[in-house]
Amino acid sequence: MMQIGSIINGQERMEDHRQTMTVINPFNNEKIAELKLATKQDLEDAAQISFAKFHSTTKVMPAHQRADILRKAADLLVEKSEDFATIICKEAGKPIKYSRGEVERSVQILRFASELAKNITGEVLPMDAAIGGEHRMGLVKREPLGVVGAITPFNFPLNLSLHKLAPAIAAGNTVIYKPAEKTPISAYMLVKLFEEAGLPEGVINLLIGTGKEVGAPLVTHEKVHKISFTGSLPVGKSIRETAGFKKVTLELGSNSPNILFEDANIDNAATELVKGAFAFSGQVCISAQRIYVHKAIFDRFLEDYIRKTKALQIGDPISDQTDIGPMINEDEAKRAKQWIDDAVKEGAKIEVGGERNGTILSPTIMTNVDENMKIIAEEVFAPIVSVIPFESEEEVIQYANNSIYGLQAGVFTKDINRALRVADRLEMGGVWINEISTYRQDNHPYGGVKQSGVGKEGVKYATEDMTEIKFIGIKIDQTN
Ligand code: SIN
Repeated sequence: MMQIGSIINGQERMEDHRQTMTVINPFNNEKIAELKLATKQDLEDAAQISFAKFHSTTKVMPAHQRADILRKAADLLVEKSEDFATIICKEAGKPIKYSRGEVERSVQILRFASELAKNITGEVLPMDAAIGGEHRMGLVKREPLGVVGAITPFNFPLNLSLHKLAPAIAAGNTVIYKPAEKTPISAYMLVKLFEEAGLPEGVINLLIGTGKEVGAPLVTHEKVHKISFTGSLPVGKSIRETAGFKKVTLELGSNSPNILFEDANIDNAATELVKGAFAFSGQVCISAQRIYVHKAIFDRFLEDYIRKTKALQIGDPISDQTDIGPMINEDEAKRAKQWIDDAVKEGAKIEVGGERNGTILSPTIMTNVDENMKIIAEEVFAPIVSVIPFESEEEVIQYANNSIYGLQAGVFTKDINRALRVADRLEMGGVWINEISTYRQDNHPYGGVKQSGVGKEGVKYATEDMTEIKFIGIKIDQTN
């Protein structure tokens, strides 16, 4: 079994006295790594190093060099893509085909960030737009922030880490990187990959440790200038309350709606929504959780959707054939099963699925649900989807917006006017037309409204948010 620890200023911290934790493959309970956990002192050291390296190294590193490092990291990730996919599959239990997809997307993030590093621009302001502003010039520049704290989740351990690390480096920041304890091996490999790509030591400092020991003090540390977090709503709220004057980006939960009007392409929507609800057992923030179907096509859609869901292969995530693997651990599978049972007691019907075997919950379609049930009102983060009939555009907009969340939605119709009308009225960070809510490209703005979060990711938008605007004004002497 491999042993790994935190990496601070290029040195791995592996002393015997450290507390340990084991990383377990959630499909077969195989022990895959022992972690030597970080302490508060490691966080303190990481903060001092990151701060010093910002001033000595990344703040003064030319853009072409930052771009080169990111491009080399992309090339290396292509070379090592199967190693990364295999480890994501083992530590997160993500089916290998989805793990490979995650690595492919991660390569693109690095390439986008590499291009962007050379294109962080400002503007020249027309100062004479203000009365009395004549003979002045205004320069608006973007500067790196300093130290970025990146706190990342288990569900896309590589992709969602790179949505923080790559923009931070593109903009010239240093990073303290705290990955989820359940999926730290890909994080460790990523830090090593950046080293190989030429990133100087101490620019990314990896802390493998718990939220209590290193996550919480990272959020309040005075030398950290920004926290970028993806994870649960309760942790997001606590970060918002304790981060003080730091910038924060919070990517939190969702109970994403998908709306099928009567003119939707049923076959295509059903095929895509199988992936949209059940990919990685629904452990995706934008997983399709509520599917609203016009009553004229409700029965046809449901029949097709159930048939396609029954065809999913459940099994070992390492097999190319597997569609549905384990959830991240048994507690999560039990919690999700309990939510199904609670809904059934309140009158819901299981159309397919609803069975748990250890960490595996079978893909589950529910009907007869109501908006107060947990499987509708809260984020299920499990392979559970509800199909709900509606009659009018107005009614379905009310249903979809009746949520504390607002991350991403899907609208299926051939009527472009209706699609755009509905998109405008949905309280969401993003709306896809004729595409599932679960689809994400790494260059579009991504981030929610309401309690789905604060700020946007997507390489360009995250990079902008990892800079500070500085104004430099010049008064031009008119005498000679
Ligand atoms: C998430 O779960 O928020 C990430 C979804 C994605 O990147 O596809």
